[in-house]
Parts: sequence; C-alpha cells; structure tokens
Amino acid sequence: MNIYYIMSTNTSDNKRKVTTRRLIEMKQRGEKISMLTAYDYSSAKIIDAAGIDCILVGDSASNVMAGNTTTLPITLDQMIYHAKSVMKGVDRALVVVDLPFGSYQGNSKEALASAIRIMKESHAEAVKIEGGSEIRESVERIISAGIPVMGHLGLTPQSINKFGTYAVRAREEAEALKLMADAKLLEELGCFAMVIEKVPAELAARVAREVSIPVIGIGAGGGVDGQVLVMHDMLGINQGFSPRFLRRYADVASIMTDAVGNYIQDVKSGDFPNESESY
Ligand code: KIV
Repeated sequence: MNIYYIMSTNTSDNKRKVTTRRLIEMKQRGEKISMLTAYDYSSAKIIDAAGIDCILVGDSASNVMAGNTTTLPITLDQMIYHAKSVMKGVDRALVVVDLPFGSYQGNSKEALASAIRIMKESHAEAVKIEGGSEIRESVERIISAGIPVMGHLGLTPQSINKFGTYAVRAREEAEALKLMADAKLLEELGCFAMVIEKVPAELAARVAREVSIPVIGIGAGGGVDGQVLVMHDMLGINQGFSPRFLRRYADVASIMTDAVGNYIQDVKSGDFPNESESY
C-alpha cells in the first residue's frame, strides 16, 4: 500500500460520520475512542471539526452551564435545549445525550417516553443512562424502540446523595463484582457502549477485556477503549475542579480573564474603537 493511499484512506475515514457501529469496530481494531462533552452550538462545532469521535451532551451541564453543585436539578427540557444546539454544530461525531435525573427512574414507560423526546426533538443519535440491574427494564424498553443506549457504571453522579461522596467506587470486592455483572448485563441487553467513571484502573481494564462493546473511561485508567472528559474541565474553563484523573489541555479561564481585562482597559482609555473599527 503506498503512502498516498494510506493518507487518503485516513482522510476519508476522518470525515466519515461516526455511528454506534463504527465505535464497536474501533474497539475491535484496538483504536481508542475520544469523547468530550459539549452543551452548545459553537463549542460543539469546534470540537467536531477538531475530529472528536463522540460528543456527550452530559447532565454535567447542570454544573458547568447552570452553576448547580450536582447534576440532579437539570430537567429533560433543558437537556433537549442543549442537545438541539449541539446537533446544529456537528457533522461527524456521534452525539449521545444524558437522560437526566428523574426522567427514567420511575418506570420503563417513562424512561422510553423521555428517550423518545430526546431523539425526536433534538435529533441526537443515542442516549446515556446511569445504572445497572436496577434499570434493566428501562434499558430493554428503550433499545427495543430502536434507540441506542450507552450505559454508565461506577461513580454515577445522579446517585451522589446515596453515595455521599465523589470518591473512587468499587474498591471493595462486592461492589467490583456487581460492577462486572452490571457491565455484562448492559452488553447482553444490547447497549452499544458504556462509560465507567472513577473506579480502579485494573477493574476497568478487566471490564473492557470481558465485554465486546466499547468501555469509555473517566478516572478509570488507560486500559479501557476510550476516554471522556468534561470539556470545561479539560480546557481549564472550570478551574475549581482538579481531581487526579483530570489532565488540563489549556488555561482558557486565564486567556478569557486577560482578554476581558484588555478590553475593559481599551474601553476606559478610549482606545477602542479606533478609526478602522468605526463606520
Ligand atoms: O454528564 C457528564 O458529563 C458525564 C461524564 C462525566 C461521563 O456523564
């Protein structure tokens, strides 16, 4: 195979729409999956054009967009608003939307109705749902309606009031065994992928080896099939959050602070606008 052929194949692959099936193929050939959150049109457009594989419209919007201390307050209507905005900026990445707290725990009919609203109103391509055997019926019902489901195990932030802490999960044998059983159950029910959050790296790697669907980690080490981070955390927009698992790729808060400071100075001094910036 000549170099031109390899380059052109990669280029067309880089532009090809990411689907749930493509994520599974990526796992099969050992290609790591990149995933970030986004909640608005402009940032979704930037991270999609940069080549991200998967965008999560996470309920972390409750924290980083709305300023809440937990993910619990965000509503289904608000998630749909964020998802609609993201969808308008995305050409290539697979877009997954979190089912927010209170939109699926009641019963599986309610879970399906919530998932249908997300798909119908936002045009997103999949939903994510927190939990294992407790939400079995809901997962089954949503998948049987043709809606792809991404699971979420380990630290499930919607259950923070039950856990009482954001500390690492599944360090004890019993919880690790339940996590492994839940991962296998999600695979068996037909989930196309799952997020595993804040668990020991060895356990997450074992799950990734034992299930055929992609396991995307956050605070779950490097032995999984892909990684997800909250965009505001990795860009350094949200500066008050620095867990061990977070790598900061930029210091956008400082860039914004400097830019805004310079703008204020220029307005106060009369330097802005100058002649070329006026009509
Ligand atoms: O809501 C979110 O951002 C998430 C990620 C942390 C996986 O669920």
